[in-house]
Amino acid sequence: MRRAAAFLVLLLCLYWTRARGESGGVGVKSTSDQTNITPDIWAELKELRDMAIQHSVELTNTKSKMEKLEQENTAIQTRLTASEWKNAVLENVVKELQRENTDLLDRVTSLEDQNKVLEARMNASENEVEELKRQSADMMTRMNASENEVKELKRQIADQPKVAFSLGLTDNGRIGPFNTDITLKFSKVVTNFGQGYSPTTGLFTAPVRGAYYFSLTLLDNRSGVNTRVFLYHNDKKVLTSYIHNVDGAESVSNSLVLRLEKGDVVYMVLPADHTAFDDSHAYTTFNGFLLFPL
Ligand SMILES: *[C@@H]1O[C@H](CO)[C@@H](O)[C@H](O)[C@H]1NC(C)=O
Ligand SMILES: *[C@@H]1O[C@H](CO)[C@@H](O)[C@H](O)[C@H]1NC(C)=O
Repeated sequence: MRRAAAFLVLLLCLYWTRARGESGGVGVKSTSDQTNITPDIWAELKELRDMAIQHSVELTNTKSKMEKLEQENTAIQTRLTASEWKNAVLENVVKELQRENTDLLDRVTSLEDQNKVLEARMNASENEVEELKRQSADMMTRMNASENEVKELKRQIADQPKVAFSLGLTDNGRIGPFNTDITLKFSKVVTNFGQGYSPTTGLFTAPVRGAYYFSLTLLDNRSGVNTRVFLYHNDKKVLTSYIHNVDGAESVSNSLVLRLEKGDVVYMVLPADHTAFDDSHAYTTFNGFLLFPL
């Protein structure tokens, strides 16, 4: 605007200088010239004025455009500032999120480590449980075997024949002497498990094959005689007990283990010319029992 005004002033000065020069140079002619020149100047001035107005209008337009642009610029700057601020905020948020992410990752790693430790411990526990289960199964197997053995032993014990006897000879004092050997019939039956002994015959009959234990005692209370007794297994004399009575009563005792077949017999024999004595004191006895079956 200011520049346009200055341009206008310059133009006016130029016209004025030119007008002076033309009039000052030739004095006489100037009067006639002046009337010719004047309309031109006015026309040009009018033209200049129009141009100036036009410039002014254009200037005003430009100015309003500029103002508009400045406003837009300000708006854009405002928006830019807002965007920048938002960006800064977002950057902070992103940074915060990244930091939180890192923290979370650390925690996840830590939890994974803890998890591994727990898993290892759990595996160890599981292995121990498996081992204990295995041991338990082994023990159950062994226990079952033991139970079966116990049952078998119980059965064997239950099935095992119960054979045992204890006998006294008599309550009636002396027996003998006789002309021949006689089988002693023990009349006092203290015990007779399995009924192997017969008081009628004086024989013990083995109910099963096995090892049997026998013991015997015989008293003779006469002086100066021989005390003697035999033990027979079937028809075989397997034992003789003997003592010479020098001065008063003497008794003999003995014992042995015999292997007997089922149905074998065992008995005591008083030799000819010998005696045995017994009364309620049970001086003369015969005992036996099954040690174990075979
Ligand atoms: C735990 O046992 C499983 C299965 O046997 C196995 O895959 C895993 O690696 C074990 N973990 C550890 C920590 O030992
Ligand atoms: C033997 O004992 C009987 C019964 O007690 C008795 O009568 C007898 O005199 C005794 N004999 C001797 C030699 O001791």
